[in-house]
Amino acid sequence: MDRKEKIGVLCGGLSAERDVSLRSGKAVYNALKERGYNVVLIDAGHDLCEALRKEAVQRVFIALHGGAGENGSVQGMLEVMGIPYTGSGVLASAAAMDKDMSKKIFMHHNISVPPFAVVSRSDHASVKDMVSGFSSIAPFGLPCVVKPAEEGSSIGVSIVKNVSELQGALEEGFRHGSTLIIEKYIKGKEIQIGISAGKALGGVEVRPSAEFYSYEAKYTAGATQYILPPEVDEESYSRLRAAALAAHNALGCKGATRVDLMLDEDGREYVLEVNTIPGMTETSLLPKIAALSGMNFGDLVEEIISLA
Ligand SMILES: Nc1ncnc2c1ncn2[C@@H]1O[C@H](COP(=O)(O)OP(=O)(O)O)[C@@H](O)[C@H]1O
Ligand SMILES: [Mg+2]
Repeated sequence: MDRKEKIGVLCGGLSAERDVSLRSGKAVYNALKERGYNVVLIDAGHDLCEALRKEAVQRVFIALHGGAGENGSVQGMLEVMGIPYTGSGVLASAAAMDKDMSKKIFMHHNISVPPFAVVSRSDHASVKDMVSGFSSIAPFGLPCVVKPAEEGSSIGVSIVKNVSELQGALEEGFRHGSTLIIEKYIKGKEIQIGISAGKALGGVEVRPSAEFYSYEAKYTAGATQYILPPEVDEESYSRLRAAALAAHNALGCKGATRVDLMLDEDGREYVLEVNTIPGMTETSLLPKIAALSGMNFGDLVEEIISLA
């Protein structure tokens, strides 16, 4: 691509993940600047459209996490404005953000997902009714994971081992959305696979010291051990990579994504979700995974922008 083309790096925004996004944006901006691109950093508020026009932006690197920047809304606005942007389009972004929708698409493509149920606040008179009807709602039983269908960063996610914890977990989930996913708890390893330009680059094994990869485990330094490449046998590793790539393709994702998976104790893999705008600080997981395949941070950023 032409280095004179004006690139706008979108970061910040209005979601709960604003702070991480500011760091991703700054890192991407620096990498592009260093490689001689004509680049401007833009905090994506309600005036995003005006800011893009004012800066005469010709191509966009989206470094927004969560909310409008990841769910297809910003992507739709850029389509209307006729500005090419990095990563997945409107439909893939929206489908990936919605765990109920994405699971249906995965199942259609024979990609294995943990057994799950979907509950909406409006389907039941009360949370107490959901608890009393739990065995018919979620026949796979306990332990299970309760999570909002449209959140990220483990916000509102609980592991339920005991029936007495169920009501609290459902109430916590509903504080973050009106639809929840109840999923069978998969005991085993948690693996994330990085994808860019249609290839699985490799993966990382995530070992939180907490019970699961919670918000604190994600954003507190030292709270989680990251093992690159994951400590799994070759065959499992190649199955995990294939499942991640299949999930990325099933949703119609483009550019770079990071896919969350579980590998159970019998060596079966399950896709949890596809993250369409993975963290892009120099110490984020996707850049670390890319490094395994010999790509440094600048190479990855350049690959992503070139695919916009
Ligand atoms: N079915 C499951 N079995 C075991 N752990 C799970 C399961 N689902 C989620 N988790 C744990 O919860 C975390 C967050 O779940 P995830 O589906 O990735 O949602 P988010 O969008 O919040 O990252 C995962 O990283 C994992 O640690
Ligand atoms: Mg996740």
